[in-house]
Amino acid sequence: MIGVFDSGLGGLTVLRALVARFPQLSFVYLGDHAHVPYGNRSSDEVVELTRRSVEALYKRGAKLVLLGCNTATAVAARRLQRIWLPHAGWPGHNVLGIVAPTVEAATQTPWAVTTPQYPQKYMTDTIAVFGTTRTVTSGVYPEEIRKRCPRMRVVQQASAGLAGAIEDEAPEAELDALVAASVAGMLAQTGGVQPHSAILGCTHFPLVEHLFRRHLGPSTRILSQPDVVANSFEDYLERKPHYTDCDVSGELTLLTTGDADEISARARVFWPDVPAFSHTTT
Ligand code: DGL
Repeated sequence: MIGVFDSGLGGLTVLRALVARFPQLSFVYLGDHAHVPYGNRSSDEVVELTRRSVEALYKRGAKLVLLGCNTATAVAARRLQRIWLPHAGWPGHNVLGIVAPTVEAATQTPWAVTTPQYPQKYMTDTIAVFGTTRTVTSGVYPEEIRKRCPRMRVVQQASAGLAGAIEDEAPEAELDALVAASVAGMLAQTGGVQPHSAILGCTHFPLVEHLFRRHLGPSTRILSQPDVVANSFEDYLERKPHYTDCDVSGELTLLTTGDADEISARARVFWPDVPAFSHTTT
């Protein structure tokens, strides 16, 4: 069984792509609605909340947990992988983030390659990264992109409030205004030059990808994280088949630390035939 975690409903964009790609596998999803949004919380809070949720998914039988959340990945993935997991008493378990596959797609460089190679060494593209405040202040995207493509220009823009507004089903006009403000903030940094690519670095944002499309220039390639993550996850499972051995039951379990009825209703707006959520604690 594979665990997928997000602070709220945003990770459903990733889960949906994974279920479409691997219909035979079982997934358990956890949305930490009791604490969403994570994007404005302190790093220590994000690490502790993420750790509790990962452990809750391990207890449910997931040996591999994917953080379907950029904020949790940017702030907590490394600390959980390197500091917590080796001593946590969960041998044979792992936790993965979604920054690595996104950086691989943006730089066309495998994650394991951390020094510039030809032709990446000479690429001068401009990449815009839209994320929560916490993802942007972590600096993880520019840091990892520049390791592989030192001449790329990485412009970050915090879209404060956008994930929360999506989660709260704000009216389209309100979402449009937030996206327009984010794009305007990014263009102010580039001097009006449209980026070659844009990373929607928050798993809530694919739900408003059409609004980013409207406000970004037609030449800007939008990196779709659900697709990018599903592609990379396929490679990962080929290399580590023991995480899915014998799993052909295709079960889907959805858990929330919030109100299950309310979250089930909201989730259907994003994914019409999604099964109902059950309440859990972490
Ligand atoms: N969906 C999450 C992300 O990818 C964050 C939303 C939040 O909790 O602020 O960053």
